[in-house]
Amino acid sequence: MDEKVEKEFILNMQGEYNETVIDHARNPRNVGNIPQCDGFAQGTGECGDTLGLWLSVKNDRITRVTFWTDGCGASIACGSITTVLATDCTVEEAMKIDRDAILRALDGLPEDHVHCAELAAETLAAAVKDYKELSKFPWKKAYMK
Ligand code: FES
Repeated sequence: MDEKVEKEFILNMQGEYNETVIDHARNPRNVGNIPQCDGFAQGTGECGDTLGLWLSVKNDRITRVTFWTDGCGASIACGSITTVLATDCTVEEAMKIDRDAILRALDGLPEDHVHCAELAAETLAAAVKDYKELSKFPWKKAYMK
């Protein structure tokens, strides 16, 4: 991020967001896609922002999670913390990562950005569902980009 843009970004977040959120928004973990992933979903929040999540899974355990979003700083933080929470989980454990688990891990978000955590949780659940579907038809992976 360009220095001036970053300064502005932090100024906009300070006061409204806690340190954990600012840290994940400034230094998001696991950004990008996973080519030939084992599960993928893209969700759109009530605000119109989108968030995508890619999973690598081995023996029903999530070995890698990445994300991308065109949303706000809070959605970047939610995507980032979701990848951290879901890494090394079994797919069943990952299904239990809901909005509240994301909010707890981020030490909370302002009320008007709780939907960003909802978007990340719903997208994770959809990516796990995609993994489950895909594992029933493994040949479909050959047609994925
Ligand atoms: Fe749209 Fe955060 S995801 S405002």
